Amino acid sequence: MQIIGKVVIVTGGGNGIGRALCRRFAVECAKAIVVVDLDEEAARRVAAEIAGVPIAADVSREADVQRVVGDVLERYGAIDLFCSNAGIAVDGDETTAPVEWQRCWDVNVMAHVFAARAVLPGMLARGDGYLLQTVSAAGLLTHPQSATYAVTKHASLAFAEWLSMTYGDRGITVSALCPQGVRTDMLQRASAGGRTFLVDSAVAPEQVADDVVKGIAEGRFLILPHPEVADYFRRKADDYDRWLRGMRRLRSTLK
Ligand SMILES: NC(=O)c1ccc[n+]([C@@H]2O[C@H](COP(=O)([O-])OP(=O)(O)OC[C@H]3O[C@@H](n4cnc5c(N)ncnc54)[C@H](O)[C@@H]3O)[C@@H](O)[C@H]2O)c1
Repeated sequence: MQIIGKVVIVTGGGNGIGRALCRRFAVECAKAIVVVDLDEEAARRVAAEIAGVPIAADVSREADVQRVVGDVLERYGAIDLFCSNAGIAVDGDETTAPVEWQRCWDVNVMAHVFAARAVLPGMLARGDGYLLQTVSAAGLLTHPQSATYAVTKHASLAFAEWLSMTYGDRGITVSALCPQGVRTDMLQRASAGGRTFLVDSAVAPEQVADDVVKGIAEGRFLILPHPEVADYFRRKADDYDRWLRGMRRLRSTLK
């Protein structure tokens, strides 16, 4: 799909990868860019910069997602591309409180379910639509320091695969964006907390946005701003035990 002339929604559009996507879609001459964020001020700032439409919403709440989609349909009649990008990195392991697991689950998984539930009826009726989910390389591989992130990103990837399999022959294209480190506030917070292993290979959000535009043009399922992730994924599938031994070694070098 080409972005020119399209109605696009980006969640988490106020910062980081989402903001870079909004800016890049403006360069590509989208017809409308709806910047959705929990942080109302950030959404306003980005929308003002690109003549977009800001909407404050918490995508982990279904009523908010329905409201966003309803507003946009009323205004433009159709949604061509929904970028379900907002996500959170919550540190967690087996001792983490269920309420924290739930928070991570609601943003990193249920927000994608709510988005699909809200936009698919219109897209299927038109036989045309594009869903982009920002997952993470952690969804294909793992995150050695956060079980909550690794698990919810695996679930997010599983949902994207399921959507593609189920609706791919009915005009719906699905992409899963799976970067390693990206230089955003999220990575900055992680590295301030001593989680620095992704920093050296981190890429700029603008590069991720370039890769997204290319990936969407090709209708590719996996969008990998770090191409080496495909090799890591292959090695994991080739010999799971060997891969786990390597991950234990990596884990032991980290805090
Ligand atoms: N930065 C990285 O290294 C990296 C790597 C892989 C994947 N990702 C994924 O990319 C996505 C974007 O991450 P980022 O690095 O740009 O993060 P970020 O923290 O810099 O920006 C995320 C934006 O999402 C918004 N947001 C958070 N929860 C929300 C909610 N419930 N409803 C609406 N908006 C919400 C925040 O207000 C913020 O503006 C996330 O899904 C993240 O997991 C990031």
